Amino acid sequence: MIETARFLNRELAEKIRQDFGTPVYVYSEKLLREAAREVLGLPAPFGLTVRYAMKANSNRTVLKLFDGMGLHIDASSGYEAERAMKAGIAADKIMLTAQELPGNLKELVEAGVFYNACSLHQIEAYGKLFPGTEFSVRINPGMGSGGHAKTSVAGEEAGFAIWHEFIPQAQELLQKYGLKVRTVHTHVGSGTDPDEWQKVAEPCAALLDYFPEATRLSLGGGFKVGRMVGEKTADFQAIGARVQQILLDFAERTGRQIHLEVEPGTFLVAQAGTLLARVQDLTQTSSRRFLKIDAGMTEILRPALYRAQHPIVVLNDSAQTEEYVVVGHCCESGDLLTPDPEVLDKEKPRLMAKAELGDLVAIEGAGAYCSSMAAINYNSFPQAAGVLVKEDGSLQLMRRRQTLDQMIANEA
Ligand SMILES: Cc1ncc(COP(=O)(O)O)c(C=O)c1O
Repeated sequence: MIETARFLNRELAEKIRQDFGTPVYVYSEKLLREAAREVLGLPAPFGLTVRYAMKANSNRTVLKLFDGMGLHIDASSGYEAERAMKAGIAADKIMLTAQELPGNLKELVEAGVFYNACSLHQIEAYGKLFPGTEFSVRINPGMGSGGHAKTSVAGEEAGFAIWHEFIPQAQELLQKYGLKVRTVHTHVGSGTDPDEWQKVAEPCAALLDYFPEATRLSLGGGFKVGRMVGEKTADFQAIGARVQQILLDFAERTGRQIHLEVEPGTFLVAQAGTLLARVQDLTQTSSRRFLKIDAGMTEILRPALYRAQHPIVVLNDSAQTEEYVVVGHCCESGDLLTPDPEVLDKEKPRLMAKAELGDLVAIEGAGAYCSSMAAINYNSFPQAAGVLVKEDGSLQLMRRRQTLDQMIANEA
């Protein structure tokens, strides 16, 4: 089946090409807001905080849009926390969950950022700086789940968070520094099958028993969106019903009314973003036709990294179809946009509208972990521009295309 574009049509795409050039990330304000409203509707019996996992897309326009809708922020490095503050987000709306202890943790926490310790070492470091205060701990509940082995971040094979068997050691540190755990935090993976996600919620909630002072439970992110036809998308009402029951049962058993936190990245932005590129060459061998575009791993790394599948739509009126292997503009055989989802290092030709040189191509589902997670500047391609299609149809620049001089500005 040939995929279709979610919010771009040929006319709008042409206008964007004329005004901003390609490659360019295009985002839909309408879809961003719709996704946020869906998450905010998650049923939670004792209150809900939705944090946007800004690693998915850290552009200030996105941060400010969600901030205006009442979302808080999940920052994954000290730099992300600072970046959010520079975008105008109040520090007390930011929780920091970082693999690398930031050198300026003291300043960040003094500014109001809430800290989530992800290892015993991090508890110790935080305790030394802020004894007697409240914070959060991230626990690996013993099982993980993700759309791909590389996106599962809990279970025995994952180095993230405090392994649940080390909770006694964590508690010793809490005592040593007089720390109080306000939030028990878990995040088990990304792109998780919605049924799996619900199964993992229960053992995560059970961790609250170890931290009697905790008033909040964060179940992290990981809500799947189905980018390709036939892929499941998380149903927030169904997930909410399950989580609601878990929290109600917990309240009945313990008398504790737990405030729920979730921190989706993908779900909030993935479908609201499209990477718009241009067909810059068409080549073939005896068995394959290659469609070469003016974007690639420099703008969208997920296919090369995870064999992730993104719909790719040729924006022309052709009634004819063709099978193409779509490749990026880098001198790298791994710069492949149509990898075989099952087989490592193998391409899979895809049926698409027959393309001509210069046609525009929309790579869909590119709002999350694309502009923020690409091999930017490889082969010295400048960082792409970004544009928001506002609800009234007007276009707003989100990021200027990088110049070559900006790329080399810090070279000594
Ligand atoms: C701690 C934490 N929270 C939330 C997220 C967001 O995950 P997703 O984009 O799958 O919703 C991530 C992603 O890696 C994460 O590490």
